[in-house]
Amino acid sequence: MERLKQKIVAEGQVLGEDILKVDGFLNHQIDVKFMEEIGQEFRARFQDVKPNRILTVESSGIAIACETSRYFDYVPVVFAKKATPNTMAEGCYSAEARSFTKGTVSNLRVSKRFIQPGDQVLILDDFLASGEASIALTKMVRKAGAEVVGIGAVIDKAFQGGGDKLREMGCRVESLAVIRAFEKGQIIFG
Ligand code: G4P
Ligand code: NA
Ligand code: NA
Repeated sequence: MERLKQKIVAEGQVLGEDILKVDGFLNHQIDVKFMEEIGQEFRARFQDVKPNRILTVESSGIAIACETSRYFDYVPVVFAKKATPNTMAEGCYSAEARSFTKGTVSNLRVSKRFIQPGDQVLILDDFLASGEASIALTKMVRKAGAEVVGIGAVIDKAFQGGGDKLREMGCRVESLAVIRAFEKGQIIFG
């Protein structure tokens, strides 16, 4: 998505070896008009699938998922909640996601009421890094007897391997901007 790449170059900031800061439009302040374009782009990428749920993780995924839902007949958006490890909640699917960026482990939870057997689930997130979050979501969907019809990432740091792992699990992955490397603070797109 050319407009996204331009925005990343204009407004993003590379931090250290592997972090891209885009809090001016995605992770802290949200550019709502631009979110609309992101939603439309996901619709175009996934025009052949018919999800009846969009699944993401709190918090940055929510705006992306809601905006995209508008272009998929307003299907419900479900966001996994992050709980501290070892809290067992009744009636929930849960899966661990180790955060590469933060060095923490969160136990993602989704109520069994909101993923039903046979559901067609589109998973969306802001960043695809090592893939832990999307892998955890995929495991929960499959445990529910539902199907992952696609995984969409706004920004895919392909060098961290998450996309490859998800494809090995049989998932279709669509990324709106693929970053191949950061070199001396410069962003190299794939
Ligand atoms: P993974 O799921 O692909 O393995 O990624 P990781 O554990 O590294 O992600 C942990 C958090 O950091 C996620 O947000 C993810 O979106 C975010 N993240 C990963 N790489 C980058 C990056 O280069 N830049 C920025 N800005 N964020 C990144 P989160 O902790 O769940 O927070 P939020 O959704 O509440 O924002
Ligand atoms: Na994030
Ligand atoms: Na996220």
